[in-house]
Amino acid sequence: MDAFVIQGGNPLRGEIKVNGSKNAALPLMAAALLTNQPVTLEGIPRLADIGNMRRLLIELGVDIEEQPDGLRFQATDESASHARYEIVRTMRASICVLGPMLARRGIARVSLPGGCAIGDRPVDLHLRGLEALGAEVSLDSGDILVKAPAPGGRLRGGRVFLAGPFGPTVLGTANVMSAATLAEGVTIIECAACEPEVVDLARLLNAMGAHIRGAGTPRIVIEGVKELGTAHHRVIGDRIEAGTYMMASAMTRGDLTIRDCPLDALLATWDHLERAGVALTVIDESDPMRASIRIRGTDAIQPVHVTTNPHPGFPTDLQAQMMALLSMASGNSSITERIFPDRFLHVAELSRMGARLFRQGPTVIVSGVRELIGAPVMASDLRASASLVLAGLAAKGQTIVRRVYHLDRGYERMETGLASLGADIRRVREEELPLIE
Ligand code: EPU
Repeated sequence: MDAFVIQGGNPLRGEIKVNGSKNAALPLMAAALLTNQPVTLEGIPRLADIGNMRRLLIELGVDIEEQPDGLRFQATDESASHARYEIVRTMRASICVLGPMLARRGIARVSLPGGCAIGDRPVDLHLRGLEALGAEVSLDSGDILVKAPAPGGRLRGGRVFLAGPFGPTVLGTANVMSAATLAEGVTIIECAACEPEVVDLARLLNAMGAHIRGAGTPRIVIEGVKELGTAHHRVIGDRIEAGTYMMASAMTRGDLTIRDCPLDALLATWDHLERAGVALTVIDESDPMRASIRIRGTDAIQPVHVTTNPHPGFPTDLQAQMMALLSMASGNSSITERIFPDRFLHVAELSRMGARLFRQGPTVIVSGVRELIGAPVMASDLRASASLVLAGLAAKGQTIVRRVYHLDRGYERMETGLASLGADIRRVREEELPLIE
């Protein structure tokens, strides 16, 4: 296993380009199952989760080729229908093959994803949505088994309400929307997730010949078609990666220019950072999803009250990083987590670095300290790991972040990007650590 060794205190300066979005890419890749024609995706990031999805799609009969204009996917053998536990357990997002496989192949068997470090993460809404399209759902030996109404038959359009106790579901919306493209008749998804990744998926599906209206709003209307075909699509930039770099610059008193920034998808983050006293400037927003922005840190971060919410609210995927930032504010902030009320594994680790955090249920009071102090810490999930890296960059002294494989799931060689901006950060094997500590 790898670890990062970070010597804190260097301001981040220079320019960085945002990679393609992981959370957009995963359902886009799964959409290749909806046709036997080639689908080419440009800007797929090189991440562990993407590697897992590639393996899964290959098992499901999809040929994948690197082309000059992106990755080309083509389902050449449509006989398989089983997403096995061995792959699903490495990546919960494997669930997004469920809708496409059901719609095209009439049957899908996907190992039921277990809980993960950030909470229980049920899939009841995905299943309820597919049932509303006429699918038969059962559980068999730990697998979800979904079947179209008649053998080899088509799904039929229906009305689907997709909100649960914590709001709409992003991958559930992706699954039902994808499945409905090939259903007979019209489907209305009410309380659909409005995330930019859902909009990106709708754009690809429409380019493949689907008829989807309203993606990005709570009501999506899909008129089913008989077949989908070939398309070429460029993945949107990763708003969470961009937001993480924005916070890294703010915390290190840096001066960073971010290119290809999906600014239009980051307005809540922008607003909260501005309230925290961070200087943000737009350099070029001729394409608001590929903007250039500049972020300068401040000597006095102001406390802010943050509540995570479904898009366009403040994203849960930036909650941990925001907590690292507010740990250094001059005053008391609060952070309330409304999407995953237990997503607080970073709290204990940030506390080891001197952050003063008091958790009560889904809320953490963050009592700002003048400085964080480097310490050995352990990464536990993707975004918690990112928050520890940010804290390490800003802290006094040396921080060692173990288990950075969590980070590699969602950030492409993060240490290389940060080092190019002046950070003192290197990747080592954990076996080498006793020599360093
Ligand atoms: N939920 C249910 N029932 C369901 C599905 C979800 O109750 O059937 C609940 C969840 O437990 C949660 C809330 O609804 O409380 C929202 O979950 P959602 O389904 O939207 O999450 P997801 O689609 O599984 C995606 C991202 C997550 C991100 C969430 C929320 C991908 C691959 N994952 O997950 O990203 O946190 O949306 O925005 O797109 C990450 O990148 O670090 C990450 C965890």
